[in-house]
Amino acid sequence: MANFSASSGRQSVELNLDGISKAFGTVFAVRPVSLTIEPGLLVSLLGPSGCGKTTTLRIIAGFEAPDTGRVLIGGKDVSDLPPNKRNLGMVFQNYSLFPHMTVGENVAFGLKVAGTPRDEIGRRVKDALSLVQLPGYEDRYAHQLSGGQQQRVALARSLVTNPSVLLLDEPLGALDKNLREVMQFELRRIQQQLGITTVLVTHDQEEALTMSDRVAVMSQGRILQYGSPTEVYATPTTRFVSEFLGTSNLFRGKVAGSDGAGLSRIQVPMAGGASLALRVKVADGARQDDFALVAIRPEKMRLGRSAPEGSDHVIGQVLDHVFRGTYHAYQVSVPGRETPLFVYQQAIDADGQGVFAAGSQVHVSWLPTNAVYLADDEAKPGKPS
Ligand SMILES: Nc1ncnc2c1ncn2[C@@H]1O[C@H](COP(=O)(O)OP(=O)(O)OP(=O)(O)O)[C@@H](O)[C@H]1O
Ligand SMILES: [Mg+2]
Repeated sequence: MANFSASSGRQSVELNLDGISKAFGTVFAVRPVSLTIEPGLLVSLLGPSGCGKTTTLRIIAGFEAPDTGRVLIGGKDVSDLPPNKRNLGMVFQNYSLFPHMTVGENVAFGLKVAGTPRDEIGRRVKDALSLVQLPGYEDRYAHQLSGGQQQRVALARSLVTNPSVLLLDEPLGALDKNLREVMQFELRRIQQQLGITTVLVTHDQEEALTMSDRVAVMSQGRILQYGSPTEVYATPTTRFVSEFLGTSNLFRGKVAGSDGAGLSRIQVPMAGGASLALRVKVADGARQDDFALVAIRPEKMRLGRSAPEGSDHVIGQVLDHVFRGTYHAYQVSVPGRETPLFVYQQAIDADGQGVFAAGSQVHVSWLPTNAVYLADDEAKPGKPS
């Protein structure tokens, strides 16, 4: 990605977290975390409540001093600088507009503090309000604005000083679902137009996946996986990431050799003595009898009266299904397996078959390339629950 955003004439910078950590008494809010965010990218910190997202953001901003590590903005160590000297813009979940000031005064605030000349302030406030599509709103007060409009003003206020990094902590958390989606597009448009390096904190999987260039999935103060939305969704490396980013069908078994074509064969024991054989790619190779956990997304599974050539499959019985607008969500019970399989499928599948009624005998099949091998986070102490 280019370092220079032509439309805004601004330089995008790299953001580095170099081994930052923070404990509050006995609570390790952030374990040593290292992360390099390339110039101009929008990166989400995604994770459940209490995993350390806000603390990480506050360390970047300078509101919290880390116990260890450094923060670098554009290659420069800012660890010893106060928040107002780091050239950052910030937006929080709760609209933090000053209620006694107009929109114009709110947006102008940072420029006034910096001693910017009066006519320049007027011009830049006008530009910032146009950027967030609220031109001419200078004279309103916060209570005369909708929630979405207030967040646009908060964004304009954080961008008017031309910061090099934008920090957003659940900025859309207080908005209802529809408005939230509109604002997701809006925020992304503005971020890309400016080419501004951005860290977005969210616990909403969909928001992180749709808005970000990269997602950092956090659990218990650590980044468990960092990658593009497609990578973290389609090839999670741990059970936690797999399950946090959506529904997964899990199979627990043992490595039982190789198929000779680059895939490992996994033997999954079923109650009653039977077992299921499936194939999966194991990145670092696998040893015979190694424990194996395999995940398959519901939309990567197929229901049919038979299984296509080259796929792996299991036979089961449809328990139930619900229509979800664009697909049917099936639950299929498999003899000897404790939990049903979830399968998402179009109403009419590739065979031209319609909906499978409850009680139907079906083949649930999938391509081995859609099976994902997960690291064993079961056996370890302190596993994410
Ligand atoms: N000032 C503080 N004093 C003591 N403990 C704190 C403080 N700030 C955060 N913590 C603790 O640190 C951990 C991480 O908190 P943090 O606010 O970073 O989580 P979060 O991921 O932002 O969660 P949420 O999604 O609920 O906002 C939590 O266990 C929290 O209780
Ligand atoms: Mg938080």
